[in-house]
Amino acid sequence: MRGTLSTVTALALLALSTHASPLPQPREQVLRCTLDTAEQVSHIENQNLDVWSHHGVSAGEKARPIDVRVNDAQKAALLATGVRCEPFIEDVAALLKEEMIPVSQQTLQKRAAPSDPYFSTYRSFAEINAQIAKWASAYPTTFKDLGSVGQSAQGRALRAFKITSAKTGPKKAIWLNGGIHAREWVSSATTMYIAHSLLTAPAGSPAAALLDSLEFYFTPMSNPDGYEYSRTTNRMWRKNRGKNAGSSCIGTDLNRNWDEHWNVVGASQDPCSDTYSGTKAFSAPETLALSKFALSLPNRVAGIDLHSYGQYVLRPWGWTYDAPPNNDFYTRLGDGMRDAIRSVYGTRYTSQSGADLYPAAGATDDWMNAKARMVGFTIELRDTGSYGFALPARLIVPTGEEAFAGVVYYARFVLDNKVPILTPARS
Ligand code: ARG
Ligand code: ZN
Repeated sequence: MRGTLSTVTALALLALSTHASPLPQPREQVLRCTLDTAEQVSHIENQNLDVWSHHGVSAGEKARPIDVRVNDAQKAALLATGVRCEPFIEDVAALLKEEMIPVSQQTLQKRAAPSDPYFSTYRSFAEINAQIAKWASAYPTTFKDLGSVGQSAQGRALRAFKITSAKTGPKKAIWLNGGIHAREWVSSATTMYIAHSLLTAPAGSPAAALLDSLEFYFTPMSNPDGYEYSRTTNRMWRKNRGKNAGSSCIGTDLNRNWDEHWNVVGASQDPCSDTYSGTKAFSAPETLALSKFALSLPNRVAGIDLHSYGQYVLRPWGWTYDAPPNNDFYTRLGDGMRDAIRSVYGTRYTSQSGADLYPAAGATDDWMNAKARMVGFTIELRDTGSYGFALPARLIVPTGEEAFAGVVYYARFVLDNKVPILTPARS
């Protein structure tokens, strides 16, 4: 990832304010390209271009077109390969401006769930932590701040908290993980929105009832360094910000660094790649700390890893096309979640296996299922590509509301059904 959006934006503003800029305006675009040759595929791979579409990069008649983000120089080099492209997003910088327009309090108040100005825009690491502190004092019986479960590569705290009712007795635990990919801002926002919805669930509602049988554990910001870097320096950053020995390229893809079929597919050993899997499983401090945290919950039964974008409910496996043991359980659960999400605003999510999106190993979901004795899913939140990662702030609340419906379904399902004892994936 070498895109420098901040520079692009700064120069674009400069060009605007001085009116007659003699320089061509630097910009970044997303192109939709159809690849015909293996050379074109390797060009995209060798240049480490940022491919936004979710399916694999391949060439030929049956290959699907891909969406790829390029600056002017990258675009010229790409088109020189003879690849056929058309503009998909004309100007990424313009999109990012729209992303940050805050929602008015009035709009928030029209929503069914109690409004909270916190969700009017995307929040910084510091603001997320402040909200956690606020909840701890506002909801002393249901909310428990668990402090930090570890530290990021640059020393930021990996914060966790728990939500459950005052009722005692044996309870099962569900883990909701957000923000593992830096640029997927709506993941952290949605994780926080789910917490908010549980905290404000009206007494007697199905959501409130869950808190008598379940403990919800949250890690809303699993990659704080990457998130802050994405906010301040390079909006399209994906990985963490750890240094790599012997390379000037920064960062490990935290969703390729888990100890389950690590690096066997859909991951790279090039530290400059956006899917760099690290030197070994759990080489990144973030994944190591998160995995220890999950394993520290003796009553754990399920977890969800939240990402964006694409609108998918992804069941196992992510690393192989083989169906997992208990595929029927997983399929019913995934399809039910999809339907619960759709029931709120009609938003269509697709329920399928992770590998059917594209096989990628070393991800959080597969580790949960294979190694942590938990039912594990990945959710790819809104949208399907119009805004992509730069989902406008006004869509935080609706995205959160429908995801919450999905989570309530998920939680109910693991309570009401016999959760299979999962056997490890075949290797
Ligand atoms: N967009 C996610 C990623 O690239 C999808 C992960 C789905 N799970 C999987 N094991 N492939 O990390
Ligand atoms: Zn992601």
